[in-house]
Amino acid sequence: MSLKDKIDGTKLPVHVAVIMDGNGRWAKKKGNQRIFGHKNGVKAVRDTVEAAGEIGVKYLTLYAFSTENWNRPKQEVDALMSLLVSTINSESNTLMENNVRLKSIGDIAGLPKKVQQNLSEIIQKTEKNTGLTLILALNYSARWEILNAIKNIVIDSKTKDIEVNNISNDFFEKYLNTVEIPDPDLLIRTSGEYRISNFLIWQIAYTELFFTDVLWPDFNKEEFFKAIISYQKRERRFGKTSEQIKNI
Ligand code: FPP
Repeated sequence: MSLKDKIDGTKLPVHVAVIMDGNGRWAKKKGNQRIFGHKNGVKAVRDTVEAAGEIGVKYLTLYAFSTENWNRPKQEVDALMSLLVSTINSESNTLMENNVRLKSIGDIAGLPKKVQQNLSEIIQKTEKNTGLTLILALNYSARWEILNAIKNIVIDSKTKDIEVNNISNDFFEKYLNTVEIPDPDLLIRTSGEYRISNFLIWQIAYTELFFTDVLWPDFNKEEFFKAIISYQKRERRFGKTSEQIKNI
C-alpha cells in the first residue's frame, strides 16, 4: 500500500502551510553555493504543489521570502528574486493546465518591480481557476501583517464608525492579508528547526505542527503524504475535551 493510499480523503486538511527550510545547508553538504540549494528547492515546490492538488487540499501557502530575508548577502537576495521571476514565468502554463489559482501575501509593494509585474500578471491570469489555491508568502512577516492591520483599522476609524466592542476576531481578520483564506490546519517545517519564524502567527493559533529533518530540496510527494498521515492521526480539540469531540 503506497503512502498516498493510506490517506483518508474524508479527513483532509483544507489548508496546508509550509516553511521551506534547509536549502543553504543542502547546498553546503554538496560543496555548493547556497543558491544551488534554492534552485533545487524549486523541484520540491513543484512536487508539493502537485501532491496537494492530487489529494484535494484546497489551499497551500509557501513561505518563499520573509521580511527578514533582506538581511542576507545581496548576491543571495538578487539570485532569489531572479529565481522567483523565472519560476513564476516557467510555471505559468502548468498552473493554468492544473486549474491552480495563484495568490500572494506579504508586503508586495516592497518587492522589485519585475517581481511585482510578473506576480500580478499570473495572479490575474489564474484568478478564475477553481482548483488548488497556491499562496506565496513574499516579503512577508506575521508581525508586519498584524501591525499593518492595526494601522488600517486606525485609518478606517477616522472615516468609519468603528466601535471598540465590535473589534472581534472576525472583524480583525478582515484586515489581514489572509482575508477569505481559512486558517491553516497543518503547518510543515523542514530541516529539523523547531521555530515559527514570524510566519502566520495569528492564523496558526490552532494549527497542527509537523516538523521533519528533511532538507527542503529533498522534500517530495512522499514526505508531504507523511505529514498528511501524521495530521490525520491527531485529535483536534480546539480547547474542548476529548470526550466532547468524540460525542459530536
Ligand atoms: C530557506 O532555506 C529557503 C528560502 C529562504 C527560500 C525558498 C525559496 C525557494 C524554494 C525557491 C523558489 C520558490 C518559489 C515559491 C518559486 P535557507 O536558505 O534558510 O536554508 P538554511 O537554513 O540551510 O540556510
